[in-house]
Amino acid sequence: MSKIKLIVTEQNIGLLVATYIKQRINTFNPTFTKPFVIGFPTGSTPLDMYKYLVEFYKNGELSFKNVISFNLDEYVNLDVNHPESYHSYMRKNLFDHIDIPAENINIPNGNAADLQAACRAYDEKIKSCGGIELFLGGVGRNGHIAFNEPGSPFDSPTRVVTLNENTISANARFFNNDVNAVPKQAISMGLGTIMAAREVIIMTTGVKKADAVYQAIEGKRDIKCSITVLQEHPNAYIVSDRDAASLLSTSACMKCGVCSFM
Ligand code: GLP
Repeated sequence: MSKIKLIVTEQNIGLLVATYIKQRINTFNPTFTKPFVIGFPTGSTPLDMYKYLVEFYKNGELSFKNVISFNLDEYVNLDVNHPESYHSYMRKNLFDHIDIPAENINIPNGNAADLQAACRAYDEKIKSCGGIELFLGGVGRNGHIAFNEPGSPFDSPTRVVTLNENTISANARFFNNDVNAVPKQAISMGLGTIMAAREVIIMTTGVKKADAVYQAIEGKRDIKCSITVLQEHPNAYIVSDRDAASLLSTSACMKCGVCSFM
């Protein structure tokens, strides 16, 4: 049975999760002896979350000075200044607007001369920073988290992955709907790397994600659907709108809902 805690809400998921992140960072380590290590996703789903994180920073409610971030993934062989690189996405939606020290930002280097070494170094750096305290993610229509496509081993490390057709066609919308323009490979944090995070929050919205949410909560743990790896995570949440939760039996929601989550 899935240990994932499900929260179905009609509230703005970005605001809900950004508020939770603010609380976690602000109460984490008041003496600043340890950094707060966070995993940051890309995609459309987290855009509101970033908008509210920036707002909290600008209002003086939140500082990122003690935060170390690790992005989940990046395309291989895409210039970091390409508008659709995840480097650009993060600068545009978060890093250019907050006070995180540049040296605390980590995004996989999809242009490294030695990609395998870059992947190994990425996992090493996560470990040397004390591991990920809070991992945030979205989910692909086929259940991928980060870019862990169906079939990814549940103990996989950060590595080079080949995107499947489903993902390439879903992401073509960011490349003028030209599937040929979408990079075919990426560096992705592995499922093993994600399972090692102390807390995981996956945000899901829209009917296109309903099957992935159903598999995560009511399906069996199977490498054919990567998100199901989280069924064995001791501290994983899915925060979902009603559409993404629409295939679930009604008993699946935590019911204690937002209040206990916050
Ligand atoms: C990409 C990213 C994933 C993300 C997924 C869903 O494939 N690599 O990390 O979760 O897209 O994105 P969206 O939120 O746009 O549906």
